[in-house]
Amino acid sequence: MPTRPDRTFELPDTMTSLPEQRLEFSRAAWEAAAPLSSAPPDELFLRLLLDQESESTLLAARRVIAAFLGQVEPAATPADAGTIAARLRAVRDELEATIESLRGLEPDAREAVARQRAPLGLLAGCWLDVVSQPATQPSIVVNRLFAHHWLLRGEGNPRRSAHQRRRAALERMGAALPELAAADFLRRARARPLTALHGCFYLALSRLPASFLPEVVGVHCAFHALGVDELLCGTAPALTEAAVDEALAEYLALAGESDRRRLDAAVRLTIGLEREHVAVLAELGAWRSGMSLEARVAEIVARHAPLAGRQHGAVRVAGRLLSDTFTDPALDLAAFLAAFRDSGYLRAREDGPCRFIRAMKFGGPMFGIFDEREAAVFREWVATVQAGERPPIELSANAAGDAAAERWRSAIAGSAPADVVVAEAEPPDDRELFHRLVNIERFSNMLPLAAERAARCFQDAEILFTHGADGKYTDASYFDYTPQALYERAERVYWDKLVDPYRPLDAIPDRDEVIFRQTTYHLTYLIDGAWLHRTGNLGRERESDVMLAAIYADEMGHGDLRKNHITLTHLAIASMGIRLPHIRDEAFMEQAELPDHTYGFAIQQLCMCMFPDRFYNEILGYNLAIEMFGAGEVRLHEIQKLRHHGFDPCYEQAHLTIDNFSAGHTRQAADIIVSYLDGIGRTLGDAVVQEEWRRVWRGYASFAYFLEQPLLQRLAADGAVADVVI
Ligand SMILES: [Fe+2]
Ligand SMILES: [Fe+2]
Repeated sequence: MPTRPDRTFELPDTMTSLPEQRLEFSRAAWEAAAPLSSAPPDELFLRLLLDQESESTLLAARRVIAAFLGQVEPAATPADAGTIAARLRAVRDELEATIESLRGLEPDAREAVARQRAPLGLLAGCWLDVVSQPATQPSIVVNRLFAHHWLLRGEGNPRRSAHQRRRAALERMGAALPELAAADFLRRARARPLTALHGCFYLALSRLPASFLPEVVGVHCAFHALGVDELLCGTAPALTEAAVDEALAEYLALAGESDRRRLDAAVRLTIGLEREHVAVLAELGAWRSGMSLEARVAEIVARHAPLAGRQHGAVRVAGRLLSDTFTDPALDLAAFLAAFRDSGYLRAREDGPCRFIRAMKFGGPMFGIFDEREAAVFREWVATVQAGERPPIELSANAAGDAAAERWRSAIAGSAPADVVVAEAEPPDDRELFHRLVNIERFSNMLPLAAERAARCFQDAEILFTHGADGKYTDASYFDYTPQALYERAERVYWDKLVDPYRPLDAIPDRDEVIFRQTTYHLTYLIDGAWLHRTGNLGRERESDVMLAAIYADEMGHGDLRKNHITLTHLAIASMGIRLPHIRDEAFMEQAELPDHTYGFAIQQLCMCMFPDRFYNEILGYNLAIEMFGAGEVRLHEIQKLRHHGFDPCYEQAHLTIDNFSAGHTRQAADIIVSYLDGIGRTLGDAVVQEEWRRVWRGYASFAYFLEQPLLQRLAADGAVADVVI
């Protein structure tokens, strides 16, 4: 059926939101997500951060988003860009005075404030992690966001990223913290429930950015325009005011009424959240500053008591074992401190410090338990105790933000967005499966099937571990890993199979044949880079993640539409007179230009990329194979044919240079594998390296499995392997 011209896609891509449609989840996901709605904030935070692959987490994310968006009234008339920018500036000025006073607090209180802000300051920007994806490319607004993302991430140098600059500034304020994804991050940040809940909203948004594009733009612009973290840390803005204003104006100029309304609501929500968080920081700062010495001691004891376990052995205070006192859920800290003050442990001695202080010193049983500031508080307290001071011990619990947190918790618990439906995924045909994978946020119920399909292909591809040497463009035969062996293999394939065989074509096929050959590539070109689009997200900061993110950024032209490979694909396709709907549109399921047999390869790539953690190794190997194929004989022949018939060779041309083996993507892909396996070797040893390597090489073989079909058919005909079905 010919494609209807009114449903074809043309550049520029002015998409500002995807159609609002229902989100499908399986019954199993529905049940698994139920407890998450009432999970403690810390637990929900970690789940949203660490799990980027399961349906139930995505469903929880949808509910969290609904809970937060449900708290803002829709605007009757959405504000224009100038009004929003002015509103943001006014709120920024209003917050600045409070934040300035927080910066002037005494070191203890300032550190507490810095720790409290850290979870939000360090996750900021996560909403851009997956905003660029097959469904949203090459939208103008998405590329604007992607350019910001690239900039915020230090343009490939993580040491210059906004995240690292904030981390360094927070450390200068006394808040040295582990990685965001570390199990004890929130505990060490002493995050209040409200902080964790705010974090849950931003993390939830980062999981469904295509479905909430207007909200992503609103949150992004508002968060950066308010610049709470920069005001608190005294650092330069992560994004200039001009960059934010420009993004806002551009979005609003392209968006319709409904999207402008959604953006407006997201801006107001972010203003509300940031006001609320600054208020919590102020509440915490005041609480902390107003603490008596006794209360500060009590707070330290309360923090360490649950960790003491049986360490105190037979130590008793007021006749009771400390191990019993500290594990007592009804521990009365004031009574304990009163007794401790009068115990022998604090009594002044002529031969040196009291027993308690001595226990904290080098060689003592409590050496290293308390940090310098905590030890200083104890010393100050002991001195007052020994001077005979016995002030009343009044402890005020830290309840900063608890009232607001309770409101968000109950909103999450009661969140039931109307667009969420339970639907079991029937295995669809290839066209429908491709459509659902491109629109994966709507069809999360496809994830189990996608994982299974990807895993099966990796398994099947191992055939080439034995027979792969005869591949025309690849050699997937297995070898034991050493960095040298990998570089040698890559180099040999690159030169022997891809580059050296090249001879210019003597005869150019006719126009129709050239176009047909190109259409067998187009489906893959339309999802160029997709195999990497979910790698390197928040919490994944290994060197290999950073390097993968840099390759993906190259594929997307760093947000510059002229260099974006999806744009190049559309230009090339249009130059051949081919008209297609966008792959995100339902109409694409009926396209009649690209052949059916090319879907299997594209589907495998999309299935695999949904699992950047589970199939990390395989993605690394696949990345090497696909980048390598970007260079060499096939490309050169295609360029010659396209030029001959006056078609645009821009896509092929771009890959010739960017994917080369001297410093281009092919070389980087090999370096990434070496970097990753080096990290494994240093932490887990050589035996584990070989296991991990086997999975990496399966990824390489899985690409070859599609490319080397003639070889596989020959092997099947010879009876060397079972029938090959792709
Ligand atoms: Fe590319
Ligand atoms: Fe590439």
